[in-house]
Amino acid sequence: MKIMVVGGGGREHAIIKKLKENPKIEVIYALPGNGGIAADAVCVPIGAKDIPAIVEFAVQQHIDYAVVAPDDPLVLGCVDALNEKGIACFGPNADAAIIEGSKVFSKNLMKKYGIPTARYEVFDQMQAALEYLDSAPIPTVVKADGLALGKGVIIAQTRQEAKNAVVAMMQDKQFGKSGEQIVIEEFLTGPEVSVLAFTDGKTLKPMVSSMDHKRALDGDQGLNTGGMGTVAPNPYYTPAIARQCMQEIFLPTIRAMEAEGRPFKGCLYFGLMLTPQGPKVIEYNCRFGDPETQVVLPLLESDLLTVMQATTNGTLAQTPVSFRDANACCVIMASGGYPSHYEKGFPMHIPQAVFQNVYVAGACVKDGALVTAGGRVLGVTAVADSLQEAVQSAYDMVEQITFENAFYRRDIGAKALAAKEV
Ligand code: AMP
Ligand code: GLY
Repeated sequence: MKIMVVGGGGREHAIIKKLKENPKIEVIYALPGNGGIAADAVCVPIGAKDIPAIVEFAVQQHIDYAVVAPDDPLVLGCVDALNEKGIACFGPNADAAIIEGSKVFSKNLMKKYGIPTARYEVFDQMQAALEYLDSAPIPTVVKADGLALGKGVIIAQTRQEAKNAVVAMMQDKQFGKSGEQIVIEEFLTGPEVSVLAFTDGKTLKPMVSSMDHKRALDGDQGLNTGGMGTVAPNPYYTPAIARQCMQEIFLPTIRAMEAEGRPFKGCLYFGLMLTPQGPKVIEYNCRFGDPETQVVLPLLESDLLTVMQATTNGTLAQTPVSFRDANACCVIMASGGYPSHYEKGFPMHIPQAVFQNVYVAGACVKDGALVTAGGRVLGVTAVADSLQEAVQSAYDMVEQITFENAFYRRDIGAKALAAKEV
């Protein structure tokens, strides 16, 4: 079979490495992939948002199955465009991807169907939002409606900070059209859990839970990033909480999407907060998380292609999905300065023995050598029986990888290890 994976980060590298375990696959194309992914797939220089070029390539190459991994092409209708040409895909169509593409849509969906989430108000006029903030409870959370590269969420500790965020989104158009509407919501507290789930629109099978580490610095300090590391499973996510989430959140969500005429197929990502009042949805994503995928897929025992095809064909109920009873830890190595200013082009040294555990996010090949080409450069994942061993082993590998200005958190997994001891 000929497979195409749209995207070019660590998440896509993890998907490709897992897919490759299936012997029926002859070739995997990555659009655009990156210099590290090139070791595992054929990289094609077509951008993940260039839908006409993606479709043309898929048709020309007689692609049997396409995996559309990032949010942008999903929201822009990449799956719809490929399906029109008869190409089967993993991922939701645009009607369903709106669950991530519009926070106003997802908040209204949760309200309509009684799915637990933070209380909120929607605004399309700046003045009304500013007036509301005069009496809103503080801290408060201001969110741009549309996609904003993970930067469209401001946790405001003061009214002024919240108002500044509103002005930046609605007047200064910091996120373009994404900020034309905004959501202002209640600030929630509690441990965060990411749960990715396979779904064919009717049946939903959750994957092993995970914990992201979003802040740049140790101890959850510093700026928000795309994610500095992950562990799986998440120790806060007990079997009892998992059952509650299935009944109160996961199944109601896919039923709600079906009832709205927007059945969701693919990977639905639940960003949850375990509040004192029970689990609540912080956000939905219409895709695999990054870097959650880099710890979840290495624990998947079932064949990834088979499960993906079952979500497309509507046969997930009959398709087993099982995970290893083990722990995984992924440490992200970034370029010094990330997520603000950083430099690129530093040669990287990754020992051959370590490379199989490396998911490359931002690198390109220059004069035959791999050099850094992004803020998040790569992730290193270790799997072990205990979380402690997984963390230790991930850091042992990190220490063997070198590039100038390499920067990483030293405490990935520390919070999870502490939670296990309670
Ligand atoms: P998002 O971009 O929606 O993933 O939000 C980024 C991060 O902001 C989340 O992972 C949470 O840590 C935090 N966050 C979002 N919404 C809330 C909320 N209502 N209360 C507290 N924290 C939140
Ligand atoms: N790790 C968070 C995300 O993929 O959105």
